Amino acid sequence: MRRIFILAGALFLVASPVLPTSGAQAEEKAPKIVEPKLTGKLMLGKLAFGSYCAECHGEQGGGTDKGPPFLHRVYHPGHHADGSFYRAAKSGARAHHWKFGDMAPVPKVTDPQLENIVKYIRALQQANGLF
Ligand code: HEC
Repeated sequence: MRRIFILAGALFLVASPVLPTSGAQAEEKAPKIVEPKLTGKLMLGKLAFGSYCAECHGEQGGGTDKGPPFLHRVYHPGHHADGSFYRAAKSGARAHHWKFGDMAPVPKVTDPQLENIVKYIRALQQANGLF
């Protein structure tokens, strides 16, 4: 009789990793980025960001293996003011916060596009509770 209990316990341990809850837990671990309401300039900012920055900084600023996420407290406006986005696009950025390497300048992006990109990033940061 005792052996049956031990066997049942062992079976439970083997079976538990495939219980359906494991998928739901995995989803919780990768937090979903909240997209702000995209009106006018924010929409233009998203499009320009998608063309020039998302390749490394990720769609919705979530980061990739080539560049850091902007939804990180390092890029809070108090730490990286709007001007640092213009500087990074015009002159590039030396790697200093992360291990992705240097950022090359992005010469094709224009000032009006950068203005919209910064608006989009700040709106994303706000929508995701950074400030
Ligand atoms: C080819 C990849 C790549 C692209 C494209 C790219 N970045 Fe970057 N960016 C990086 C990397 C790498 C860093 C360096 C992070 C570090 O170590 O501080 C960086 C850093 C930055 C920083 C922080 C600079 C600082 O002063 O610390 C800003 C702001 C920034 N990028 C804005 C942009 C904007 C805006 C665009 C689009 C116009 C863009 N990046 C496109 C890779 C990229």
